[in-house]
Amino acid sequence: MKIPMVGLGTWKLRGKECVDVICRALEIGYRHIDTAFVYENHKEVGEGIKSFDRSKLFLTSKLSIGQAGKDMYLSQVEDTNIEGSVEAALDLALKELDTDYLDAFLIHWPYRERPLEEILVALFKMVDKGKLRFPGVSNYTMHHLQDAYDAGLKVPFNQVEFHPYLNQEELRKFCEAHDTQLIAYRPFGKGKILESESLFEEIGKPYGKNGAQVILRWLIQKNIASIAKSISSEHLKDNLNVFDFALTPSDEAQIDALNKNFRYAGGDWNEFEY
Ligand SMILES: NC(=O)c1ccc[n+]([C@@H]2O[C@H](COP(=O)([O-])OP(=O)(O)OC[C@H]3O[C@@H](n4cnc5c(N)ncnc54)[C@H](OP(=O)(O)O)[C@@H]3O)[C@@H](O)[C@H]2O)c1
Repeated sequence: MKIPMVGLGTWKLRGKECVDVICRALEIGYRHIDTAFVYENHKEVGEGIKSFDRSKLFLTSKLSIGQAGKDMYLSQVEDTNIEGSVEAALDLALKELDTDYLDAFLIHWPYRERPLEEILVALFKMVDKGKLRFPGVSNYTMHHLQDAYDAGLKVPFNQVEFHPYLNQEELRKFCEAHDTQLIAYRPFGKGKILESESLFEEIGKPYGKNGAQVILRWLIQKNIASIAKSISSEHLKDNLNVFDFALTPSDEAQIDALNKNFRYAGGDWNEFEY
């Protein structure tokens, strides 16, 4: 299993701007695009990738399992026919993205009132049907993951919030031990971490790198892929240009020390306490 370690997030990218950013990102060298049913931009992402060699792209979308009553999360999975509704959700994503398969389809948020393990099993069936390369999950804690492992399931990916203010070291080690690849979302805390902290710029100076590059490099050295979002060509280029330097253990330790278990993502549907 290979995943490009630096990808492009697309939350809040819509319309022409979304198509344009995807086209520019592909031209710059991005090969990993992250979207989701709830971002409502599948069509634009599909438009952006349509003239690109699909086999060279790692395309992720996410399944919404319908946190009941939370209108932001439309239900894509019915309780009565799990496999059928997972397949219908995937088929819809494929149609909207105008592609034959996804590289990863993740359960966007765990919601234990729904049969999470059955949903994962149904996702693995989509692999057998050639519509999906890897199932995965997002926003899973160690306990959610353990439930899946206990049910005999592998979990190729777990996409979680991970950045210097939320350094989930215990989860990282746990995932590593179980061959679950972590993907960091919101690596810059929506850009706020870059604005509030000068340490990254200081660390980057001797390498000729900026703060954003230092954070992405810090993640790579933890073997965590990331999906920062940017609409700026300059930032897109910078964010991909992180493979020609290495942080020292002392650099890493200084960044590790910034952890304050602070989350930018939330919502009353989360199960982070599980
Ligand atoms: N699985 C989940 O539940 C979940 C939840 C949240 C997000 N995500 C995914 O994670 C992706 C990233 O998260 P996010 O978009 O919320 O936040 P983010 O990537 O942490 O931050 C994006 C912000 O950082 C700025 N930025 C990017 N590169 C920069 C650079 N080199 N220098 C300075 N500023 C830079 C961007 O501004 P410019 O545009 O000006 O560069 C933008 O304002 C999302 O798009 C989505 O795909 C997943």
